[in-house]
Amino acid sequence: MTRILVTGGAGYIGSHTCVELLNAGYDVVVLDNLSNSSVEALQRVEALTAKKLTFIEGDIRDAACLDQVFASHLIDAVIHFAGLKAVGESQQIPLAYFENNVTGSLSLVQAMQRAGVYRLVFSSSATVYGEMNPSPYQETMPTGMPSNNYGYTKLVVEQMLEKAALADEKWSIALLRYFNPVGAHQSGQIGEDPQGIPNNLMPYLTQVAVGRRPLLSIFGNDYPTQDGTCERDFIHVVDLAKAHVLAIQNRLNNVGCRAWNIGTGNAISVQQIKDTFEQVNGVEIPFEYAPRRAGDLASFYADPSRAQQELGWHAELTLEDMLRDSWNWQKQNPKGYQS
Ligand code: NAD
Ligand code: UD1
Repeated sequence: MTRILVTGGAGYIGSHTCVELLNAGYDVVVLDNLSNSSVEALQRVEALTAKKLTFIEGDIRDAACLDQVFASHLIDAVIHFAGLKAVGESQQIPLAYFENNVTGSLSLVQAMQRAGVYRLVFSSSATVYGEMNPSPYQETMPTGMPSNNYGYTKLVVEQMLEKAALADEKWSIALLRYFNPVGAHQSGQIGEDPQGIPNNLMPYLTQVAVGRRPLLSIFGNDYPTQDGTCERDFIHVVDLAKAHVLAIQNRLNNVGCRAWNIGTGNAISVQQIKDTFEQVNGVEIPFEYAPRRAGDLASFYADPSRAQQELGWHAELTLEDMLRDSWNWQKQNPKGYQS
């Protein structure tokens, strides 16, 4: 059986990907230091799939730990989610971000090389396109200068992986550039569980809906968009998880380094998210219009046609699915995995 090492597999996107991998018949080994997650998520993954996975508590920066993992499990390929992802925090503690995301990724690919494992799917981000490219973003566009340190770490790792693949044709690397992941597993058993005050729109909105926060601030209603609020390409986390399974299948049969956008191709506004959430779930969201948030772009969305053509992937779930499933998770787990 094909065995996949999933770094950061206890996290939001990782746990949903573990479900899809197990359902597709893969063996799964998760390596996670639990800095932003809980083993409860993995227990729920096992319950949902009625399958077992192997969990190792450890850090991708720990070379001895990685060598041990590769020596004791015959790994065929790696999906690499582990890292820090809070944009605001990355501005305050940049070195922690470079250490976790860049040094951590370097440590992982060096351990893969020592173990002779050359197939890798990397969690990148649409942020690598920077501010200069017009939407819809296409993979053929040059990458830009991300507006924050978090984005910059993703760009550095992408470039490192591209150089490694150019120098050694044994590498087979997928760079998946996610747009805005939202939603949760349809069961409501696993979902996003941010620590502290959420920065991102969807967890903030669902925490308002569940009464943990008084109101949603919509940052800016004077953008040059259809309704004046920012537009993003929201993608259901289950569709995103399925893209990883297809990327793994593709990488088992190809070499080189290739980037794919993972988005729907639809630009949905912040106002539309709030209004549709209210309609789909029958919950009122108190809100105010607040000043623009520094660093936000008016509109960004994917051209996902390369993923369709080469991976056979396209988003299947609708905006209504995303909003219903986000709410289903939040209302069943008002305090996340702690409740
Ligand atoms: P998450 O924080 O829920 O998951 C990351 C996981 O990695 C956590 O379980 C955490 O404990 C673990 N981890 C962190 N540092 C580690 C280390 N040094 N060693 C071992 N484990 C470590 O985040 P997520 O939303 O699931 O994101 C997964 C990946 O996707 C990240 O690399 C993130 O940058 C990327 N990404 C996320 C988004 C998004 O909006 N969620 C968008 C684009 C890209
Ligand atoms: C951000 C990051 C991106 C990262 C992604 C997921 C930036 C510039 N980009 O994307 O690199 O991959 O998060 O972690 O930071 N909004 C509100 N009210 C809120 C929260 C958000 O109106 O309380 C608005 C924002 O102004 C934005 C939209 O909602 O227009 C989406 O915001 P968010 O969920 O934070 O994602 P991005 O900023 O698109």
